[in-house]
Amino acid sequence: MVIKETRLDWKSWSLFKQHHFSLLVKFAVSILLMGLAFRLFYSNYSIGVSPVIETPFVEKTVGDEAPAPVEVLENTDAIPQKEQCDLSIGDWVPNPSGPIYTNESCHIIHTHQNCMTNGRPNLGYLYWKWKPRDCELPRFNAERFLELMRNKSWAFIGDSISRNHVQSLLCILSKVEAADLVYHDDSYPSDRWNFPSYNFTLSVIWSPFLLKAATFEDINGVSSGDIQLHLDELDKKWTDQYQSFDYVVISGGKWFLKAAIYYENNTITGCNYCPGKNLTEFGPEIAYRRALKQAFNFIVSSNHSSIVLFRTTTPEHFENAAWNNGGTCKRTVPFKEEEISLKDIDTKFHNIELEEFEKAKTLGSGKRLKLKFLDTTHLSLLRPDGHPGPYRHFHPFEKDKNAKVQNDCLHWCLPGPIDSWSDLVMEMVING
Ligand SMILES: *[C@@H]1O[C@H](CO)[C@@H](O)[C@H](O)[C@H]1NC(C)=O
Ligand SMILES: *[C@@H]1O[C@H](CO)[C@@H](O)[C@H](O)[C@H]1NC(C)=O
Ligand SMILES: *[C@@H]1O[C@H](CO)[C@@H](O)[C@H](O)[C@H]1NC(C)=O
Ligand SMILES: *[C@@H]1O[C@H](CO)[C@@H](O)[C@H](O)[C@H]1NC(C)=O
Ligand SMILES: *[C@@H]1O[C@H](CO)[C@@H](O)[C@H](O)[C@H]1NC(C)=O
Ligand SMILES: *[C@@H]1O[C@H](CO)[C@@H](O)[C@H](O)[C@H]1NC(C)=O
Repeated sequence: MVIKETRLDWKSWSLFKQHHFSLLVKFAVSILLMGLAFRLFYSNYSIGVSPVIETPFVEKTVGDEAPAPVEVLENTDAIPQKEQCDLSIGDWVPNPSGPIYTNESCHIIHTHQNCMTNGRPNLGYLYWKWKPRDCELPRFNAERFLELMRNKSWAFIGDSISRNHVQSLLCILSKVEAADLVYHDDSYPSDRWNFPSYNFTLSVIWSPFLLKAATFEDINGVSSGDIQLHLDELDKKWTDQYQSFDYVVISGGKWFLKAAIYYENNTITGCNYCPGKNLTEFGPEIAYRRALKQAFNFIVSSNHSSIVLFRTTTPEHFENAAWNNGGTCKRTVPFKEEEISLKDIDTKFHNIELEEFEKAKTLGSGKRLKLKFLDTTHLSLLRPDGHPGPYRHFHPFEKDKNAKVQNDCLHWCLPGPIDSWSDLVMEMVING
């Protein structure tokens, strides 16, 4: 597929942004989520959109409408005051003590997120902590967590952002005990880790759509066919194992922006971005809503009494250009609340998440199930400085100062802002 060069000022961008943005993200995601982006520098895709960061828009930010974390079941241990604190609204404040772990203490950081080892010069991004407006958020307490999680199992279900979060958690926990990798799936990036002294198991399940899907991509993210997404069937990779987990962190998002053919009853019913195919364009929102609705219905109607956290969509921070024509994320400090608003598609996805979560909460009331809304969207939006940018690889500018390097402004450096997601998890699950 060849995409024509399009240069738009921000006004026309606003008219076309949905279309172009989804195009942009489809490709960005196919690359970044698979983790390899280099090859695209040599292809002729080129979409010029500026600016990626839509500062001219005066939009309501998510923080304004995000609810406090909600529980299906009354938690009798909860301190009422804490329940009123919305962990998703707040500011990043200086934190001189720095991260819990470093590239020296954690040995499992993926190369693409190992910004310290890769030579990122500005390490100021390590010295911030998330401060909810109405309460203190304690740092993750690895010892306490592991102690309370004896004989328990957790699963993180989702895409490469989920893996990013799990690696962060493994690094935090490694200060107490290093985990053993006890299972690895070669065909999908699914892993299981065990903390031997605690008999605590942590699984990552690769299910980027939560739905049954056939993808035709090689390891480099090169697509040889459209994704076939079954809107009416959940992915058995996670549903078959669901009963075996005590805690589940589930998430969706970016993969829905990719080009895909949609199926229902094993029959093609439409698509997302498929020009020339004479199919009904549904758009990604419909598919995302269907996925969440079914995932929540499955969880709520299951007899398994687990604790389920739904983690919200994650924003990216490519600036000045798109991901594939030199877009970068060079900022070195967090945004302030008023300096940034969520992109249109992220706002839509976040609203869908809120709505479907609320419905699930109603459906599940009275069941032995705890459903929690892990709202990381807004606090992540404020951290343009926390991405690897060009430092996805070891010393990218060592040989050539002006080397053209693919930037990653979607995943997070480890250590980095994503570590705070676990602070929220700890607060919601253990302290709350
Ligand atoms: C960790 O990062 C620092 C730079 O921040 C670097 O000097 C050091 O060699 C790195 N250590 C490892 C084990 O990669
Ligand atoms: C963990 O399981 C072992 C073996 O079943 C049992 O002896 C132990 O009491 C359990 N510990 C906790 C905290 O449940
Ligand atoms: C580990 O935990 C599981 C429950 O999750 C339990 O069945 C098993 O007996 C435990 N094993 C040990 C060695 O404690
Ligand atoms: C799927 O097929 C079943 C019977 O095969 C039919 O009852 C149902 O209406 C179909 N659903 C859709 C969405 O086409
Ligand atoms: C597109 O699909 C419609 C209905 O399925 C059909 O009537 C029409 O002939 C198709 N057009 C082309 C160009 O294939
Ligand atoms: C849940 O339990 C009830 C009664 O124990 C049973 O009738 C029902 O089939 C179970 N549902 C599932 C999804 O396992």
